Amino acid sequence: MVNQRAGILGTGHSYPEGILTNAELAQLVETSDEWITTRTGIKQRRKAAPGEYTSMFAVRAARQAIERARLDPSDIDLLICATVTPDQILPSTGCIVQAELGANNAAAMDVVAACSGFLYGVSLADSMIRTGQVRHAVVVGAEILTQYVDYTDRQTCVLFGDGAGAAVLGPVDSSRGILASKIKSDGRYEEQLFSPGGGTRRKPTAETLAAGDHFFKMKGNELFKVAVRSMAEISREVLEKAGRKSDEIDLFIPHQANQRITEAVADRLNVGLEKVYSNIAVHGNTSSASIPIALDECVEAGRIKEGDLVLMASFGGGVTWGAVLMQW
Ligand code: UT7
Repeated sequence: MVNQRAGILGTGHSYPEGILTNAELAQLVETSDEWITTRTGIKQRRKAAPGEYTSMFAVRAARQAIERARLDPSDIDLLICATVTPDQILPSTGCIVQAELGANNAAAMDVVAACSGFLYGVSLADSMIRTGQVRHAVVVGAEILTQYVDYTDRQTCVLFGDGAGAAVLGPVDSSRGILASKIKSDGRYEEQLFSPGGGTRRKPTAETLAAGDHFFKMKGNELFKVAVRSMAEISREVLEKAGRKSDEIDLFIPHQANQRITEAVADRLNVGLEKVYSNIAVHGNTSSASIPIALDECVEAGRIKEGDLVLMASFGGGVTWGAVLMQW
């Protein structure tokens, strides 16, 4: 069996121009900039305009990642699009992105794992590169969450934003790349974050629309505790799998769900906040796009240096969670 180490060769991101501020939200629901800032760390989020859809941002992010990897779209063998807000039910948004990019040699699919979707995709691509089944893979996380947010529900509408981030994975020498990854789920917690309408269980009708069944519904308080516990646990598991210690981490990129979750996880892992990347103030929670957007911002800002030990961890609806440890 081939055991080829996989690493990230290029990253990219893209988001809509539209911005929705806390002050604007305070005009829609009973909330305030002060509440949102102190409870979540969010100041603004990006919001797609009418006519903008998920694959538009996915294509831009993926194209940038492929260019920065110095590859051509035809070099890509696998395209994974992580999203819970696809362009449409069929075909997959992955196939739509593949066609737009001209990635004519790639197998394409969607991964539905909510905020853990990007790390699920990275973990799958890593396995396929390790075994020699594919050489170059694009993993893109892309969401237009603001179309599925109920702007009368103050608990959820203040959290979510839109955007896309992408990474190209490919073979690297054994001194770097992905050291360990782990993904998990527990569907028994389905109703902690879910959107009940639109599928075969509750197909779209005038009634499901009127009942708001297509919006995200969340038990935020319960999810908060499970998120902190699961992200910390799975981070420890990948560190142990790779034989590394948390004090060796140079950069921790958690899923951006809530600044208080980020700080609680960092505290449990004993990782100083100066090593933790946060962009939640400007993006809010962009689900599967949050880690790849953050990763690309770190690359662009020169916050990741060659040889750095980078930990990424996520938690999302499903519920799903995952972690990836890599040497940059
Ligand atoms: O990305 C997937 C993973 N996502 C998560 O894990 C999200 C996890 N959950 C959270 O981030 C937090 O639970 C929230 C930000 C959603 C809520 O913060 P919280 O500190 O857990 O607040 P809470 O739900 O305990 O609510 C406290 C109070 C309540 O009022 P009462 O009952 O104390 O009178 C809420 O009704 O805050 C109220 N509240 C708000 N007030 C102003 C809830 N949302 C708002 C709001 N503005 N937007």
